[in-house]
Amino acid sequence: MSYVITIDGPAGAGKSSISKRLAKELKIKYLDTGAIYRAIALILAKSEIKPDDENFLREALSEIKIELRDNSVLVNDFDVSSEIRTPEVDNLASIYSALPIVREALLHLQKEQKNYGSVVAEGRDVGSVVFPDAEIKFFLTASPQARAKRRYLERIEKGKEADYDEILSAIIQRDEHDSKRDFSPLKIPDNAIFIDSSDMTEDEVLKFILDKIKEVLPK
Ligand code: DC
Repeated sequence: MSYVITIDGPAGAGKSSISKRLAKELKIKYLDTGAIYRAIALILAKSEIKPDDENFLREALSEIKIELRDNSVLVNDFDVSSEIRTPEVDNLASIYSALPIVREALLHLQKEQKNYGSVVAEGRDVGSVVFPDAEIKFFLTASPQARAKRRYLERIEKGKEADYDEILSAIIQRDEHDSKRDFSPLKIPDNAIFIDSSDMTEDEVLKFILDKIKEVLPK
C-alpha cells in the first residue's frame, strides 16, 4: 500500500533534514515543495517578470517546465539545485509563492508525485492543500531564536559568512509573510501532530516521528 506523510512548518524548523532522513529510513520518495517554489521564483525573477504582472506571469508559468529528480530540480532542462539555495532566492520564493496564480500552476506537479509511490512531502501547505488526505501529518516548528541559531551554525559549518541578528530578523519577516498571506497561508493542518523542536535534537525528532508512524500506519 502506498502512503503520504506530510511535514509542514516554518523556515528553519529542520523539516528538510528530517524529511530526507525519514524518506531514507522508510525507503520512500522525498518531495521538497519549497525547492519547486524556489525554482519558479528564480526563473520568474531572472525573466524580469514582476509579481504584479499577471498576464506575463500566466504566460511564463504555462511555458516553464519543472522536473524533479532524486536530488535535483531542473527548470527548462537546467539544473538549478544549488542556485536556489541563496538568501536572495529565500526572499524571491517568499514573494512569488504568495501569488495564487503561482500556487495553482504548481499544485498539479506536487499532487501527481504520489502516483509514483509513497512519499514524504515537506512544505507550508502540503498537509492542508496538496495532500489533505495524507495518512499522517506533522507540523514541525521551533522558536525563531532556535531556528536562527541552527541556520547560523549551518552557514558557519559550510564556511560561509553569517550574522545571527540578520538571520533572526529574516526568519521573523518570512514567518510573517508566509503565515499572513491571503492564499494558502502557513497554518497547522487539521489532524496534524504538532512538534516543537526548540529543545530537541534531530535524532529525537526523527525517533518521535518514526514512533508515531508505526502507531498510525498498518504494518
Ligand atoms: O521551505 P523553503 O524555505 O525552501 O521554502 C521556500 C519558500 O517557498 C518559502 O518562502 C515558503 C514557500 N513555500 C510555500 O509557500 N509552500 C510550500 N509548500 C513550500 C514552500
